[in-house]
Amino acid sequence: MFSLSIDQVKGGMTLAQPVYNLNGTKLLEKGNVLDERLIIRLKNSGAKRIWVTDDDNSFLKGLVPHKIFEETVKELETVQHLILEGKSFDIYIVNELAQELVEQIIFNEMPFAEMVRMKLTEKTVLEHMVDVALLSIMTAKALGMDKLDMRFVGLASLVHDVGKFLISDEILSKPTKLNEYEMRQVRKHPQIGFDILKNIDGMNKYALQVALQHHERLDGSGYPRGIKGKHISNYSLIVSIADIYTAIIREKLYRPRLPIYQAGELLWAQAGKQLNRDLTSMFLRHVVSFPLRSTVKLNNGAVGKVVYQNSQFPTRPIISIDGELIDLSESNTLFATEVLAYEYD
Ligand SMILES: [Fe+2]
Repeated sequence: MFSLSIDQVKGGMTLAQPVYNLNGTKLLEKGNVLDERLIIRLKNSGAKRIWVTDDDNSFLKGLVPHKIFEETVKELETVQHLILEGKSFDIYIVNELAQELVEQIIFNEMPFAEMVRMKLTEKTVLEHMVDVALLSIMTAKALGMDKLDMRFVGLASLVHDVGKFLISDEILSKPTKLNEYEMRQVRKHPQIGFDILKNIDGMNKYALQVALQHHERLDGSGYPRGIKGKHISNYSLIVSIADIYTAIIREKLYRPRLPIYQAGELLWAQAGKQLNRDLTSMFLRHVVSFPLRSTVKLNNGAVGKVVYQNSQFPTRPIISIDGELIDLSESNTLFATEVLAYEYD
């Protein structure tokens, strides 16, 4: 179920709530399948937003983000081929991809956030880099970075794992635990990536930092160098949060994909130790968890609306249920399990 502005509503969608005019007269009953004639009638009656359902998610699949995602993966494929052939690639093309992602996210953030929340089924390194780019750009936006910095974050994310192109597929996609030798191979990818990128004409310095540092951790527990704190660039800290989140939530051999809440809690457990606390809080509140104004379901079956985000407990917002406020940070047993409905602007 989605709350959409009337301009986004398309024929074939089903009304999820009745629509009333300003005088309180019911214009259309819930369950009506909309066609062009009904949509025009609603517009003429002054309706601004309506609730619709879209059972097969065709609305979401038709939104711009999916196309942009696929196009970006396709463009990066060319970069991958060139690297595998030992050739140079044009960083300005990747820069343009980053620019396009930034423009689209500024213009259309909610659908991107929604797509990333639903999807994250990345199978390849390329898909992973695009997922991380989307999440990192959204984090940069939430931090109030300007367009240029958002683009640098995007560019750095889009190439952060190129070192993995040279690691054997057998190791990268091994479903069981890696042995010591295999682990050593994987841990080479930041340095390999850095070495590839530093030979590319016009390479951006932030992209170089992120390729080398995105597995470093604030407490020095990361790799390849085990550097700490302020020695890790801000861009690397942002990208590493998105990178870890995608790894946590992803489906594993021994369990299905984690729900948003659980993945968020696991990520939050690393905040202040391996990960920067403020950045992680920002990421959870504004990028992946329960967005303001969304309708969420609690584990006790109750349904409410998110009215406040708590920076200290970013996965536990304050929910309004029939006008009563429930602070999920004050309960150990009550939590939001899923988003039932989003509001799109
Ligand atoms: Fe990596």
